[in-house]
Amino acid sequence: MGRQPLVAANWKMHGQRGRIASLIAGIRSGLTAVGGVEIAVCPPYVYLQQVGELVTGSPIILGAQNLAVEESGAFTGEISGPMLAEFGCHYVIVGHSERRNLFGESDALVADKFIAAQKHGLVPVLCVGEKAVHRKAGTTEKVIAEQLDAVISKSGIESLANAVIAYEPVWAIGSGKTATPDQAQPVHAFIRNRLAGHDAGIAEEARIIYGGSVNAANAKELFAETDIDGALVGGASLNAEEFVNICKVAATVAAD
Ligand code: PGA
Repeated sequence: MGRQPLVAANWKMHGQRGRIASLIAGIRSGLTAVGGVEIAVCPPYVYLQQVGELVTGSPIILGAQNLAVEESGAFTGEISGPMLAEFGCHYVIVGHSERRNLFGESDALVADKFIAAQKHGLVPVLCVGEKAVHRKAGTTEKVIAEQLDAVISKSGIESLANAVIAYEPVWAIGSGKTATPDQAQPVHAFIRNRLAGHDAGIAEEARIIYGGSVNAANAKELFAETDIDGALVGGASLNAEEFVNICKVAATVAAD
């Protein structure tokens, strides 16, 4: 049995009730004939309840974009794992590069968030990725290794069982400059090998999805790569037809 692809929408800080209702309606109707691929949407926190209701009875899985390490307490503006679980979230993105770079989240904090997510029954989607400067300097693998090892050393390789890791080169996010399959696949293989250094079975089962300017036109060649198991989609996920088409590509490639 191969790994089931995952296509997850990261809506970031976009949304508005009416727009979300039509977006989900469009995704639901477009996906009726799509099987063999897992599909998730990660709206901003305030829309979780609405989206949770709108996806009921569909295969669309609910996810969040971030969580606090703590469970409750005096942490103004934060949202905790138990809250996300109560609102029906299955996935939660941790360590997205925008969190790391704009909000100063360190590798250690991301590892704590990963642990907090699992503690509350959520499946973390762990984002890793190098900046353009690292790629130019040839330090891509070093950066990714540090990001991964921060989690492995804090929570153990067993915590990566059935993991979802998103490789998102920072230079490719929102830039229209998708990594080519030749750029992405070696990094996905590197991530899998790094896991395999601890546990071959866990490495084989981990889903390593790609993120960074994925659209319906470039998805096929990426998904065709051995170690690319789906996508985390930002901009293109705000258009129902485009997002559905990416999901269809994943289903077609998986069925081949
Ligand atoms: P993008 O974003 O598809 O708009 O590049 C991807 C992400 O940041 O997860």
